Amino acid sequence: MKLPFAEPFKIKMVEKIYRSTLQERERWIRDASFNLFNLRSEEVYIDLLTDSGTGAMSDKQWGAIMTGDESYAGASSYYNLKDAIWDITGFQYFLPAHQGRAAENVLFSVLVKEGDIVPGNSHFDTTKGHIEFRKAKAVDCTIDVARDPSAIHPFKGNVDLEKLENVLKNNPSGKIPFIIVTVTNNTSGGQPVSMSNIRGVSELARRYGIKLIIDGARFAENAYFIKTREKGFSNMQISEITREMFSYADGMTMSSKKDAIVNMGGFIAFREEKLFRQASTFNIIFEGFITYGGMSGRDMNALAQGLYEGTEFTYLESRIKQVEYLGNRLKESGIPIIEPFGGHAIFIDAKSFLNSIPREEFPAQTLAVELYTEGGVRGVEVGALMADRDPVTRENRYPDLEMVRLAIPRRVYTYNHMDYTAAVVKNVFERRNSITRGMRIKREALILRHFTVELERIMK
Ligand code: F0G
Repeated sequence: MKLPFAEPFKIKMVEKIYRSTLQERERWIRDASFNLFNLRSEEVYIDLLTDSGTGAMSDKQWGAIMTGDESYAGASSYYNLKDAIWDITGFQYFLPAHQGRAAENVLFSVLVKEGDIVPGNSHFDTTKGHIEFRKAKAVDCTIDVARDPSAIHPFKGNVDLEKLENVLKNNPSGKIPFIIVTVTNNTSGGQPVSMSNIRGVSELARRYGIKLIIDGARFAENAYFIKTREKGFSNMQISEITREMFSYADGMTMSSKKDAIVNMGGFIAFREEKLFRQASTFNIIFEGFITYGGMSGRDMNALAQGLYEGTEFTYLESRIKQVEYLGNRLKESGIPIIEPFGGHAIFIDAKSFLNSIPREEFPAQTLAVELYTEGGVRGVEVGALMADRDPVTRENRYPDLEMVRLAIPRRVYTYNHMDYTAAVVKNVFERRNSITRGMRIKREALILRHFTVELERIMK
């Protein structure tokens, strides 16, 4: 018999979590104005709000913390991180930053001007935010199949090369500072981008004289999918695949809180010295001197170690198979979920799940609240609330997909936790016909409203 895979680690330290009662959760969520971001973490049993910064560091990472060098300039921790980035991405130059959006802020301060256009594949919120903040426009060129929740495609995060070429053809190249490819593609369901697609984008970028930047928050999970799904890569090491992925790009932004398995951190990496030098000025203004940029030495050490651990095949296999396990448990129960399963999360199709709730009543938020009250599982709405209002008309925007994301933190939960989560979703699914009304907004912010919005249940 072929032996099954199992986690390539054992647990050395545990953290207690509290399994609350239904009555407690009903009270807490009401007090939180039906916004899951307002809950205290002790009020959550299984926290699947995000996989960002919520992973468990290893003994080696904690060990590396103890040998961090806190020198203001030239710390050995900086050089450890520089070596790890070189080994895994092949980029020679880099700047530390305190998280992914800070990396975007620094890089885009050099590259993005008012009136510019930045094409890409479903830019992440903060990426789009940093583009729009500079009065430029993010143009989504993701393949159309990504909009169909049940369409099977091995690389559903791919860029549609025809759409991209149209953007490049129809705009002066001076207006397009770069193309950004997000791997894996969080916004459209944690879907990967194939190597041949990255290569295709880079050929277009070169032909039109435009830079290619990779948003690498989940680059290692993307490499796992390339290894296991794309022809010609099955015998390659993950680090060989990651180096090839990045070889097509001019630079990258990184939120290290995801695939590098640290609780806080980020960086920007560059191929050319010129761009690195231009960005250094902004890094010093916004983040800190170029050899620490918003990170302490100990955290850079843990990040360097995390980059190596996060690109081990056995780790990635156990990580992605755990997400897949939850997906399969939900699928068996007939729960509508986005397929193929994403690398870091399972996305529930809330429009089909609660199909009698109109979109104006926020079905995905309603479902996220139900999952919490049912069993203390906290997911996140990725739908109309998150999409904000149109800045001009102030009308609600309704994206194609109305989803609840269950993001799995790295090396944190067990298979029993996945079974428990699946049972919670199934219980809500069984009583879905009794959930006929959704939520109404009581108070909201002008942008990024989902973080602070206050809601109430609509009673019949
Ligand atoms: N890019 C992608 C693809 C992301 O998913 C995120 C964050 C960022 C950039 C920004 O990085 O949080 O370190 O500033 N995603 C988190 C999430 C917040 O929950 O998916 P950050």
